[in-house]
Amino acid sequence: MTPSIHESLKAAYEDVAYVGRPNPYSLPDRLAAIATLFGLSPPDPATARVLEVGCGDGANILPMATRMPGARFVATDYSSLLMGRAREMADALRVGNVDLVEGDLREVARSLGTFDYIIGHGFYSWVPDDVRDAFVALARGRLAPGGLVYVSYNVLPGCHLRRIAWDAIRLETAGATTARERIDGARRIRRDLAEAWSAAGGMAAHLAREFADDDERPDSSLYHDDASGVNFPVYFSAFVRHAGSHGLGFLAEAELGTMGAGGLPPAMQSLLVAADPLSREQYLDFARLRRFRQSILAPAETIARARLTAAAIPGLHFAAVTGVVQEVATRDARAIEDAVASVLVDRYPATMTGAELAAALVERGTPASDAPGRILRSCFSGAVELHTVPLGIATRVSERPRAYAVARWQAGRSAVVTNLRHEGVRLDEPDARAVLAAADGSRDRGALAAVVGSRPDATAIVDHFLDRFAYTGLLEA
Ligand SMILES: C[S@@+](CC[C@H](N)C(=O)[O-])C[C@H]1O[C@@H](n2cnc3c(N)ncnc32)[C@H](O)[C@@H]1O
Repeated sequence: MTPSIHESLKAAYEDVAYVGRPNPYSLPDRLAAIATLFGLSPPDPATARVLEVGCGDGANILPMATRMPGARFVATDYSSLLMGRAREMADALRVGNVDLVEGDLREVARSLGTFDYIIGHGFYSWVPDDVRDAFVALARGRLAPGGLVYVSYNVLPGCHLRRIAWDAIRLETAGATTARERIDGARRIRRDLAEAWSAAGGMAAHLAREFADDDERPDSSLYHDDASGVNFPVYFSAFVRHAGSHGLGFLAEAELGTMGAGGLPPAMQSLLVAADPLSREQYLDFARLRRFRQSILAPAETIARARLTAAAIPGLHFAAVTGVVQEVATRDARAIEDAVASVLVDRYPATMTGAELAAALVERGTPASDAPGRILRSCFSGAVELHTVPLGIATRVSERPRAYAVARWQAGRSAVVTNLRHEGVRLDEPDARAVLAAADGSRDRGALAAVVGSRPDATAIVDHFLDRFAYTGLLEA
């Protein structure tokens, strides 16, 4: 008998482990900060109840839980392989505030409690229709008053472009009988297409850039995304209708900067100004050929009360967005036109309160009465991120540096570790990972230098690594 779509999908996740990554946009702290900016009073993340559906190997929720010891977490997934990995990580890091619940979401939903934050990352577009619907029903049914839902999903029209490669992969791997054959076939056709499109020039050459990151993409991402038989991109408007049918409404994007219209030509800007908030988002997706969203939902009655307000600014915490900092580091720093981003880039990776940020702007010449409005506008520039609490990151290397425990554990297993900003950081050099693993607060630089051996430049190497750890948010304050 042919297996059902549910059986095939589950088998695929048991066959090839999905390698998860921390997703900073799904942090309750950041969701709460955005809701606060919209005039709402979300539950305090520090003591919240948080659910993640389709949590995979726990790479997102487990580091989150270690940073929020007063909160309670439930993480659920139906893959025994992935839940096994999540349990291993939870045990190794002694994470005591997470319940790992193995089972199909359509069945376990009934046994779950209520939650202040519900996270569905890499789930909505990657499951069959009935599971998708069960998720949205659960997100409304299990949401406590004032709660927020985070959903990431693939969107049209941008995914029409990605679909060209998906269709080619399907054709190429139609006869594949093993996961290995399917992954190899997917890589092969993507490489051949990239070459053909680059040579063709024009629009095809633009599409070829789609494959620029192929060498870095893990097998599991190709297998469970591009080569998967279940991949459901939607128009934003259809997503909003689906959420609305369960009583949820759209509050904002978790990547707030994507709601901004910066860089678009005047005619499109005028169109956006005239549009209602939801139509504006849909127009933006067309204008930017958007392919992925991370939306924050809340009950429709909460959305009706939401109003953007600068009054919340002084009490929030702000940081520069990592991608912007990296971009600035590779070109002339004068190129940052946004004064708010410029102050924050100087402070990176630390956060500043809105009050401190406003004072810094005034020092640089902004009239005091303009500062909050200016900060509010910058929240939509793509350069600024919001938090409800400071991040607790050391910006200087201390006498006996202590790296984030999660990253220290991961350093022995992988080239990508999680930092205190809940981002993945790549450490390709084995020596860097060895020093990170040893930086547990008990060793000074001399003792850490011994980790890289007796070479004469050991101290200089360790200094370089430690500076990098501080800059990439790996050291605790
Ligand atoms: C694309 S992966 C994303 C994993 C993780 N959230 C991440 O982004 O790294 C989708 C996950 O959903 C899980 N999943 C799919 N269908 C499910 C179902 N019906 N019930 C529970 N989990 C399911 C899979 O096992 C897999 O871990």
